[in-house]
Amino acid sequence: MSRAAASHPLPGGLLPAACAAHLSQDPGSDDPGWPALAPAELEASRSMRPRRAREFHHGRHCARQALARLGLPALPLPQGEDRAPCWPAGVTGSISHSGSWAIAAVALARDLAGLGLDIEPDDPLPLDVHALVCRPGEARRFDGMGTDPARLLFSAKESLYKCLWPLTGRFLEFSEIELSPAPGGFTARYCGQGAPLKLDRLIGRIGQAHGLVLTAAWIPAAGSG
Ligand SMILES: CC(C)(COP(=O)(O)OP(=O)(O)OC[C@H]1O[C@@H](n2cnc3c(N)ncnc32)[C@H](O)[C@@H]1OP(=O)(O)O)[C@@H](O)C(=O)NCCC(=O)NCCS
Repeated sequence: MSRAAASHPLPGGLLPAACAAHLSQDPGSDDPGWPALAPAELEASRSMRPRRAREFHHGRHCARQALARLGLPALPLPQGEDRAPCWPAGVTGSISHSGSWAIAAVALARDLAGLGLDIEPDDPLPLDVHALVCRPGEARRFDGMGTDPARLLFSAKESLYKCLWPLTGRFLEFSEIELSPAPGGFTARYCGQGAPLKLDRLIGRIGQAHGLVLTAAWIPAAGSG
């Protein structure tokens, strides 16, 4: 087993049972023990600054560890023109980074139609972006969850966006989505001026661990258990 193979534990219930995930912290050493990127991945990474290239490599490593947990091979995961990862046929997934941390989760498309993940430092979101991220009165509903409500909303909306983008190709402003607390996480409602967007099947979860806030959003596949 590779010395980089162990996943840090995730908060219970953050992801559905159909998901496999890998959360890891960059050891900071010259050789972090991650297998080399595939040529199709290197193409994207070559134009990145060193720190970003390392973050990209870390995320790909997490994704392959997660794929292995699903019993799938370590296939290349190129970056799409929209910058989202190109997952193998029949797979849905998501990647996120924060500082030295990276996480990836994957599931079979027959189980989940969409999946989004986000990790953030578990500290207050700068005040100057609150009005951009939070709708009036929205943050108050997330008081008492042990994390700055604005940070929670930022992360949860990023997860939701990553879940929906591959399904809709639709850009969303933070103000177009309103979140409400639900057991273990959140529900979402579209409240923008654009074409209606039904979000009643989207499931959102929130957790805290390792100094991070972690959020996930997914949509069960039609007909899945
Ligand atoms: C794409 C975006 C969500 C990334 O979030 P981030 O907090 O900046 O960064 P993270 O580390 O959490 O996530 C980056 C990863 O997201 C993935 N990603 C990038 N674009 C994506 C997209 N359009 N759809 C799904 N996943 C995407 C990639 O895997 C990327 O990492 P990689 O390039 O190393 O593979 C964000 O930059 C963005 O463009 N947001 C659009 C506006 C928005 O979020 N609106 C919310 C309204 S509800």
